[in-house]
Amino acid sequence: AGDRLRVLDQTLLPGKEAYLEFTDYQQVAEAIKTLRIRGAPAIGVAAGYGTVLGASCIESQNFQNFKEELHRVVETLAATRPTARNLFQALERMEGVVDKGRDVGTLKQQLMNEASAIHCEQREADRRLSEYGATLVEADSSIVTHCNTGPLATAGYGTALGIIIEAFNRGRVKIVYPTETRPLCQGARLTTWELKQAGVPFKLITDSMAGYVMRTRNINAVIVGADRIAANGDTANKIGTYSLAVLSREHGIPFYVAAPTTTIDFQTKTGNDIPIEERCQDEVTCYADSAIAPKGTEALNPAFDVTPVRYITAIVTEKGIIKEPAGLQSGLFERLS
Ligand code: MRU
Repeated sequence: AGDRLRVLDQTLLPGKEAYLEFTDYQQVAEAIKTLRIRGAPAIGVAAGYGTVLGASCIESQNFQNFKEELHRVVETLAATRPTARNLFQALERMEGVVDKGRDVGTLKQQLMNEASAIHCEQREADRRLSEYGATLVEADSSIVTHCNTGPLATAGYGTALGIIIEAFNRGRVKIVYPTETRPLCQGARLTTWELKQAGVPFKLITDSMAGYVMRTRNINAVIVGADRIAANGDTANKIGTYSLAVLSREHGIPFYVAAPTTTIDFQTKTGNDIPIEERCQDEVTCYADSAIAPKGTEALNPAFDVTPVRYITAIVTEKGIIKEPAGLQSGLFERLS
């Protein structure tokens, strides 16, 4: 109805399946900051609906005042997390609707339509890219994946995990090794939960086991998602992705990045220009609210790293697969637009 948003609280999984109901955009902003809603595409979808909630709470019928208040809503949502391109892409779309608006009443409905369109297009993109990506998976594959890129992360079917599940349904996956993904354990808590639901065989590994697993377990592919892909193909994704890419190269294992084209940032030339979120040190020094380091320990906590395009074997999008993206140099994504 455009006056409430219902989401699964990802911070409580797998222990508890609890839904949150938001009536206010500030609650959506808070949920994105605290990772109750997380994963680049899901953040984008939530930001669209968050803008709708913001609009529904504005009482002014004066179009200019309405626009100014809505702009503040968009700014608040944009300030939640800096790295995922999908957040800004969705908010730019919502602002585009506002720019074309004529009166408050119809604009509120148009914003709802746009947010639903962002959501539907995400689901469709997931489905298509999962089908494209599944063609890259060899028979009887053992696959390493990182972080969480399933339905929870996209509000659709998933990207990297969507490919893995699609390939499993086509009988091509023997086993998946999800990394636990420290510090917040999206792999251990969420990817395992989703793999279990899909019936895919898996064995959880700690992040530090990746090299051992690649050396000893005949891994056929590493498949990960993306938070932002620069115009040259350099890819920001969950911290630890870069190490997996370098290890994959050493072991001759294909390294695939899967993302909808809404994750591509055509304005950002290379990975050096992608803003990397730094999160609170407690996420590293504590685990599940218990300290695991002496009081006062300082820690680094970058949430993402950048994998240079030269380590990427292919980028899978809903518009097709870009093989050997490093070799394409300029005009990398031209054929997708
Ligand atoms: O900090 P998170 O959990 O939002 O990070 C998520 C990731 O890095 C995912 O790999 C990425 O967003 C792609 S989700 C399909």
